[in-house]
Amino acid sequence: MFITFEGPDGSGKSTIIKKIHEKLVSEGYNIVLTREPGGTPIAEKIRNIILDNENQELDARSEALLYAASRRQHLVEKIWPALKEGKIVLCDRFIDSSIAYQGGGRNIGVENVLNVNLFATENTYPDLTIFFDVSPEIGLARVSRDKKRVADRLDNENENFHDKVYETFKEIVKNNPNRIVSIDASKSIDEVFDATYKIIKEKLNGLH
Ligand code: TYD
Repeated sequence: MFITFEGPDGSGKSTIIKKIHEKLVSEGYNIVLTREPGGTPIAEKIRNIILDNENQELDARSEALLYAASRRQHLVEKIWPALKEGKIVLCDRFIDSSIAYQGGGRNIGVENVLNVNLFATENTYPDLTIFFDVSPEIGLARVSRDKKRVADRLDNENENFHDKVYETFKEIVKNNPNRIVSIDASKSIDEVFDATYKIIKEKLNGLH
């Protein structure tokens, strides 16, 4: 079972995933928790290049290719082997982030980014994707309130970029009703956690 979590910056995604992971492990599930970009040493090195605020010259298509390269490395080294062993893989961001951020935000086209990614993933799609729905206004306000968080190259993009990312996410959700479940992430952490947990348990129990 391959489950991914998506959403704009500041959606609270990472906090919820950590709690979901702890809960499922306590119930005895065999889980691999991972994230993108990154998840393996090579993919984490690619992540550092992409998110480094000094890399202002990084071209939009180069950025998309780097995300896709790190995604493939992550699949080869970690996700595919874990799925083969029958584990549940929980992944913080995956292909939909590339479609939304590079395809929409960077405006290089959803089709182009999809094609590059299908080459990278050999058509590997998650069984379930949870979309944490929060407007860019609320999300970015949370990011700037979070003192521990150092804003990376993507966080620091302008409002127009984040609006386009959000619009594209909403399109992806609309076009993939069988795979993606949307959760109102403007609510409290406990409420978002409960909604997320319920959806995942239904999926794991074959009810969804
Ligand atoms: P990260 O700190 O992991 O973001 P968050 O904690 O909000 O999930 O940084 C990842 C950044 O990279 C985030 O701004 C989204 C962006 N991103 C893309 O633009 N394309 C992608 O394919 C992925 C996986 C992430």
